[in-house]
Amino acid sequence: MPRALPRAKAWIVKPVAEGSSKGVRDANLVRTRAEVVERVAEVHRRFRQAALVEEFLGGREFTVALLGNGASLRVLPIVEIDFSSLPAGAKPIYSYEAKWIWDRTEAPLAIFSCPAKTTVALQRRISSAAVAAFRALGCRDWSRVDLRLGSDGLPRVLEINPLPGVLPDPEENSCFPKAARAAGLTFEQAILAVIDAAVRRLGLAPARPARKAAAR
Ligand SMILES: Nc1ncnc2c1ncn2[C@@H]1O[C@H](COP(=O)(O)OP(=O)(O)OP(=O)(O)O)[C@@H](O)[C@H]1O
Ligand SMILES: [Mg+2]
Repeated sequence: MPRALPRAKAWIVKPVAEGSSKGVRDANLVRTRAEVVERVAEVHRRFRQAALVEEFLGGREFTVALLGNGASLRVLPIVEIDFSSLPAGAKPIYSYEAKWIWDRTEAPLAIFSCPAKTTVALQRRISSAAVAAFRALGCRDWSRVDLRLGSDGLPRVLEINPLPGVLPDPEENSCFPKAARAAGLTFEQAILAVIDAAVRRLGLAPARPARKAAAR
Protein backbone atom coordinates (compact mmCIF):
# COMPACT_ATOMS: atom_id res chain seq x y z
CA MET A 1 0.00 0.00 0.00
CA PRO A 2 1.47 3.42 -0.89
CA ARG A 3 2.38 5.42 2.22
CA ALA A 4 0.94 8.65 0.81
CA LEU A 5 -1.73 8.64 -1.84
CA PRO A 6 -1.75 11.68 -4.10
CA ARG A 7 -4.66 13.95 -3.10
CA ALA A 8 -7.38 13.27 -5.62
CA LYS A 9 -11.07 12.49 -6.08
CA ALA A 10 -10.17 9.34 -7.99
CA TRP A 11 -7.06 7.31 -8.68
CA ILE A 12 -5.86 5.03 -11.41
CA VAL A 13 -3.77 1.99 -10.52
CA LYS A 14 -1.41 0.57 -13.17
CA PRO A 15 1.44 -1.92 -13.35
CA VAL A 16 4.69 0.03 -13.48
CA ALA A 17 6.17 -1.67 -16.53
CA GLU A 18 3.55 -2.85 -19.01
CA GLY A 19 2.09 -1.49 -22.23
CA SER A 20 -0.99 -1.71 -24.44
CA SER A 21 -3.13 -1.21 -21.32
CA LYS A 22 -2.12 -4.56 -19.82
CA GLY A 23 -3.32 -4.34 -16.24
CA VAL A 24 -5.21 -1.09 -16.84
CA ARG A 25 -8.73 -2.48 -16.63
CA ASP A 26 -11.97 -0.55 -16.30
CA ALA A 27 -11.90 -1.55 -12.61
CA ASN A 28 -8.51 0.14 -12.11
CA LEU A 29 -10.09 3.59 -11.99
CA VAL A 30 -11.12 3.78 -8.34
CA ARG A 31 -12.61 6.23 -5.89
CA THR A 32 -11.83 4.82 -2.41
CA ARG A 33 -8.66 3.87 -0.50
CA ALA A 34 -10.01 0.35 -0.05
CA GLU A 35 -10.30 -0.07 -3.79
CA VAL A 36 -6.76 1.29 -4.25
CA VAL A 37 -5.45 -1.36 -1.83
CA GLU A 38 -7.38 -4.08 -3.64
CA ARG A 39 -6.14 -3.02 -7.12
CA VAL A 40 -2.51 -2.67 -5.97
CA ALA A 41 -2.64 -6.21 -4.54
CA GLU A 42 -4.08 -7.44 -7.85
CA VAL A 43 -1.18 -5.81 -9.78
CA HIS A 44 1.36 -7.45 -7.43
CA ARG A 45 -0.36 -10.83 -7.75
CA ARG A 46 -0.97 -10.90 -11.52
CA PHE A 47 2.01 -8.95 -12.82
CA ARG A 48 4.62 -9.53 -10.09
CA GLN A 49 5.72 -5.92 -10.22
CA ALA A 50 5.17 -2.60 -8.49
CA ALA A 51 1.99 -0.62 -9.04
CA LEU A 52 1.71 3.05 -9.96
CA VAL A 53 -1.08 4.95 -8.22
CA GLU A 54 -1.77 8.23 -9.97
CA GLU A 55 -4.27 11.00 -9.63
CA PHE A 56 -6.97 10.34 -12.21
CA LEU A 57 -7.03 13.17 -14.75
CA GLY A 58 -10.60 13.35 -15.99
CA GLY A 59 -10.17 15.75 -18.90
CA ARG A 60 -10.00 15.06 -22.63
CA GLU A 61 -7.38 12.56 -23.78
CA PHE A 62 -5.05 12.99 -26.74
CA THR A 63 -2.18 11.12 -28.27
CA VAL A 64 0.51 12.75 -30.37
CA ALA A 65 2.60 10.93 -32.95
CA LEU A 66 6.06 12.40 -33.50
CA LEU A 67 8.34 11.66 -36.41
CA GLY A 68 11.98 12.63 -36.92
CA ASN A 69 14.71 14.19 -34.80
CA GLY A 70 16.12 17.57 -33.81
CA ALA A 71 14.96 20.48 -35.95
CA SER A 72 13.19 18.08 -38.37
CA LEU A 73 10.92 16.62 -35.67
CA ARG A 74 7.37 16.55 -37.06
CA VAL A 75 4.21 16.64 -34.95
CA LEU A 76 1.57 14.62 -36.81
CA PRO A 77 -2.12 15.54 -36.50
CA ILE A 78 -3.33 15.05 -32.92
CA VAL A 79 -5.61 12.09 -32.20
CA GLU A 80 -8.35 12.45 -29.56
CA ILE A 81 -9.63 9.37 -27.73
CA ASP A 82 -13.41 9.63 -27.85
CA PHE A 83 -14.80 7.89 -24.77
CA SER A 84 -18.39 8.38 -25.93
CA SER A 85 -17.79 5.44 -28.29
CA LEU A 86 -17.32 3.04 -25.33
CA PRO A 87 -20.21 0.80 -24.22
CA ALA A 88 -22.71 2.36 -21.77
CA GLY A 89 -21.35 2.34 -18.22
CA ALA A 90 -17.69 2.07 -19.26
CA LYS A 91 -15.30 4.36 -17.41
CA PRO A 92 -13.61 7.15 -19.40
CA ILE A 93 -10.23 5.49 -19.83
CA TYR A 94 -8.56 3.78 -22.78
CA SER A 95 -8.57 0.55 -20.82
CA TYR A 96 -7.59 -3.03 -21.63
CA GLU A 97 -11.25 -3.74 -22.38
CA ALA A 98 -11.46 -0.72 -24.72
CA LYS A 99 -8.36 -1.79 -26.66
CA TRP A 100 -8.75 -5.56 -26.73
CA ILE A 101 -12.30 -6.64 -25.90
CA TRP A 102 -14.82 -3.99 -26.94
CA ASP A 103 -12.83 -3.01 -30.06
CA ARG A 104 -12.94 -5.90 -32.52
CA THR A 105 -11.64 -6.08 -36.10
CA GLU A 106 -15.11 -7.05 -37.33
CA ALA A 107 -16.75 -4.28 -35.25
CA PRO A 108 -14.19 -1.51 -34.58
CA LEU A 109 -15.02 1.21 -32.06
CA ALA A 110 -15.09 4.73 -33.51
CA ILE A 111 -12.73 5.78 -30.74
CA PHE A 112 -10.31 8.07 -32.59
CA SER A 113 -10.99 11.55 -33.76
CA CYS A 114 -8.17 12.87 -35.94
CA PRO A 115 -7.29 15.66 -36.37
CA ALA A 116 -8.68 16.35 -32.89
CA LYS A 117 -11.12 19.25 -32.75
CA THR A 118 -9.38 21.77 -30.51
CA THR A 119 -8.63 25.45 -30.45
CA VAL A 120 -5.32 26.47 -31.98
CA ALA A 121 -4.09 27.45 -28.50
CA LEU A 122 -4.82 23.99 -27.07
CA GLN A 123 -3.31 22.32 -30.11
CA ARG A 124 -0.11 24.30 -29.53
CA ARG A 125 -0.03 23.43 -25.83
CA ILE A 126 -0.53 19.72 -26.52
CA SER A 127 2.09 19.69 -29.27
CA SER A 128 4.69 21.52 -27.24
CA ALA A 129 4.15 19.27 -24.20
CA ALA A 130 4.60 16.23 -26.46
CA VAL A 131 7.77 17.61 -28.06
CA ALA A 132 9.19 18.59 -24.66
CA ALA A 133 8.60 15.05 -23.35
CA PHE A 134 10.23 13.53 -26.45
CA ARG A 135 13.31 15.73 -26.01
CA ALA A 136 13.55 15.41 -22.23
CA LEU A 137 13.47 11.63 -22.45
CA GLY A 138 15.98 11.41 -25.29
CA CYS A 139 13.58 9.69 -27.71
CA ARG A 140 14.74 8.99 -31.24
CA ASP A 141 13.18 8.82 -34.70
CA TRP A 142 9.56 8.43 -33.60
CA SER A 143 7.35 8.15 -30.54
CA ARG A 144 3.79 8.56 -29.40
CA VAL A 145 2.95 10.70 -26.39
CA ASP A 146 -0.30 10.16 -24.44
CA LEU A 147 -1.72 13.20 -22.64
CA ARG A 148 -4.83 14.22 -20.73
CA LEU A 149 -6.15 17.57 -19.63
CA GLY A 150 -6.22 18.31 -15.92
CA SER A 151 -9.05 20.18 -14.19
CA ASP A 152 -7.22 23.41 -15.10
CA GLY A 153 -7.64 22.54 -18.79
CA LEU A 154 -3.87 22.16 -19.29
CA PRO A 155 -2.32 19.05 -20.82
CA ARG A 156 -0.35 16.57 -18.69
CA VAL A 157 1.83 13.86 -20.18
CA LEU A 158 0.59 10.43 -19.06
CA GLU A 159 3.32 8.45 -20.72
CA ILE A 160 5.46 8.16 -23.82
CA ASN A 161 5.71 5.21 -26.18
CA PRO A 162 9.19 5.29 -27.75
CA LEU A 163 8.26 2.21 -29.80
CA PRO A 164 4.58 2.76 -30.55
CA GLY A 165 2.36 -0.07 -31.75
CA VAL A 166 1.49 0.06 -35.45
CA LEU A 167 -1.26 -1.98 -37.10
CA PRO A 168 -1.10 -1.64 -40.91
CA ASP A 169 -4.78 -2.37 -41.64
CA PRO A 170 -6.61 1.00 -41.79
CA GLU A 171 -9.76 -0.81 -40.56
CA GLU A 172 -8.02 -1.48 -37.24
CA ASN A 173 -7.59 1.22 -34.59
CA SER A 174 -3.93 2.13 -34.30
CA CYS A 175 -2.97 5.66 -33.26
CA PHE A 176 0.35 6.23 -35.04
CA PRO A 177 -0.85 5.02 -38.48
CA LYS A 178 -4.08 6.99 -37.98
CA ALA A 179 -2.13 10.20 -37.38
CA ALA A 180 0.21 9.42 -40.29
CA ARG A 181 -2.75 8.92 -42.65
CA ALA A 182 -4.21 12.25 -41.51
CA ALA A 183 -0.85 13.81 -42.46
CA GLY A 184 -1.13 12.27 -45.95
CA LEU A 185 1.33 9.42 -45.36
CA THR A 186 0.53 5.81 -46.21
CA PHE A 187 1.55 3.15 -43.71
CA GLU A 188 4.60 2.30 -45.84
CA GLN A 189 5.61 5.97 -46.16
CA ALA A 190 5.35 6.43 -42.40
CA ILE A 191 7.56 3.40 -41.69
CA LEU A 192 10.07 4.54 -44.32
CA ALA A 193 10.11 8.00 -42.74
CA VAL A 194 11.06 6.42 -39.39
CA ILE A 195 13.88 4.49 -41.06
CA ASP A 196 14.96 7.62 -42.91
CA ALA A 197 15.09 9.55 -39.61
CA ALA A 198 17.30 6.84 -38.10
CA VAL A 199 19.56 6.73 -41.17
CA ARG A 200 20.05 10.50 -41.06
CA ARG A 201 20.59 10.52 -37.29
CA LEU A 202 23.32 7.92 -37.68
CA GLY A 203 24.87 9.68 -40.68
CA LEU A 204 24.32 6.63 -42.89
CA ALA A 205 22.55 8.41 -45.78
CA PRO A 206 24.26 7.84 -49.15
CA ALA A 207 25.43 10.97 -50.96
CA ARG A 208 22.49 11.41 -53.37
CA PRO A 209 19.79 8.82 -52.75
CA ALA A 210 16.84 11.08 -53.60
CA ARG A 211 17.89 11.80 -57.20
CA LYS A 212 18.43 8.12 -58.06
CA ALA A 213 15.06 7.17 -56.62
CA ALA A 214 13.32 9.95 -58.54
CA ALA A 215 14.92 8.86 -61.86
CA ARG A 216 13.16 5.48 -61.74
N1 LIG B 1 -3.23 9.42 -14.51
C1 LIG B 1 -4.20 9.12 -15.38
N2 LIG B 1 -5.32 9.88 -15.44
C2 LIG B 1 -6.32 9.59 -16.30
N3 LIG B 1 -6.32 8.53 -17.14
C3 LIG B 1 -5.23 7.74 -17.12
C4 LIG B 1 -4.10 7.99 -16.26
N4 LIG B 1 -3.17 7.03 -16.48
C5 LIG B 1 -3.69 6.22 -17.44
N5 LIG B 1 -4.92 6.63 -17.82
C6 LIG B 1 -5.83 5.99 -18.80
O1 LIG B 1 -5.43 4.65 -18.98
C7 LIG B 1 -5.01 4.44 -20.34
C8 LIG B 1 -3.86 3.48 -20.39
O2 LIG B 1 -2.80 4.00 -19.60
P1 LIG B 1 -1.32 4.04 -20.15
O3 LIG B 1 -1.27 4.78 -21.43
O4 LIG B 1 -0.45 4.50 -19.04
O5 LIG B 1 -1.10 2.47 -20.41
P2 LIG B 1 -0.19 1.72 -21.43
O6 LIG B 1 -0.32 0.28 -21.06
O7 LIG B 1 1.15 2.34 -21.45
O8 LIG B 1 -0.90 1.96 -22.83
P3 LIG B 1 -0.28 2.03 -24.33
O9 LIG B 1 1.07 1.41 -24.30
O10 LIG B 1 -1.28 1.25 -25.16
O11 LIG B 1 -0.33 3.49 -24.66
C9 LIG B 1 -4.69 5.84 -20.86
O12 LIG B 1 -4.79 5.90 -22.25
C10 LIG B 1 -5.76 6.68 -20.14
O13 LIG B 1 -7.04 6.57 -20.74
MG1 LIG C 1 -0.77 4.83 -23.28
